[in-house]
Amino acid sequence: MADLRVNIGALALKNPVMTASGTFGYGLEFADLIPLDGLGGIIVKGTTLKPREGNDYPRMAETASGMLNCVGLQNKGVDYFCEHIYPQIKDIDTNMIVNVSGSSPEDYAECAARIDALENIPAIELNISCPNVKDGGMAFGTTCQGAESVVKAVRERYHKTLIVKLSPNVTNIAEIAKACEAQGADSVSLINTLMGMAIDIEHRKSMLSIGTGGLSGPCVKPVALRMVWQVAKAVKIPVVGLGGITTAKDAIEFLMAGATAIEIGTANFLDPTVTIKVRDGINEWLDAHGCKDVHEIIGCL
Ligand SMILES: Cc1cc2nc3c(=O)[nH]c(=O)nc-3n(C[C@H](O)[C@H](O)[C@H](O)COP(=O)(O)O)c2cc1C
Repeated sequence: MADLRVNIGALALKNPVMTASGTFGYGLEFADLIPLDGLGGIIVKGTTLKPREGNDYPRMAETASGMLNCVGLQNKGVDYFCEHIYPQIKDIDTNMIVNVSGSSPEDYAECAARIDALENIPAIELNISCPNVKDGGMAFGTTCQGAESVVKAVRERYHKTLIVKLSPNVTNIAEIAKACEAQGADSVSLINTLMGMAIDIEHRKSMLSIGTGGLSGPCVKPVALRMVWQVAKAVKIPVVGLGGITTAKDAIEFLMAGATAIEIGTANFLDPTVTIKVRDGINEWLDAHGCKDVHEIIGCL
């Protein structure tokens, strides 16, 4: 059994496998299916300062080797999270990480500050990359100035591990990652979904209520992998890689490209036990190749 432990800033992970926000609920929904404490971390559904209804239906469409969604950050707000969800998840023996979104830097910072007060939440993932909301979301993740303004505001009020989730809908993702690092991010995670579209030709309209949606699943993996590789070379902070990971082989590719940890999203919808299978598969691969520690392959490309 190889040593799978990794660190994201001050955050110690039992292994590099985490769940991607919006695809794994609050973890509890999967408690009967997998041992939650066998994961490196669980990144829960996106949380905002105020409750959000999300977008109208339809908000999901299947694509070749993937899916489009425009859920639009539906959630009951941070106060509901603190009062009702946190008590249910605080004793799960893994890193419970909250994904935070907002419509202004102040909004993000206030939400982050409220989560800072929760003892058993050791990190947040700042979503500056949601393509499915009009106010804020991806707008902050597509320019260096936008990213800086949010990270700076949050860093002033959030004192634990700060992971910033980047948008792939940009020309130069490494520049955005460097801007986040300069403002005190402990890590960057990438990628969020790629903006896409699908059309119902019989009704001559988009398959999604707001016209466009975020593409995820195996079809985005080559793009995600390329971006992780570019970002890992550009920054000193640890990189968390995601986008289309379905197998241990996929995860190992991201580790080799320079990711210290990985997240699994859409694949959970096909196989709710995929995270544990990927964790075990990484271990088997390391054993079969005589590696005693996962660090032997991180960034080995
Ligand atoms: C239905 C759905 C909801 C999502 N909700 C969020 C969210 O609330 N916050 C966020 O940062 N990313 C969200 N994402 C993006 C995923 O966390 C992930 O970045 C993306 O799907 C790429 O990974 P994958 O191909 O493994 O799914 C969502 C994705 C899907 C499919």
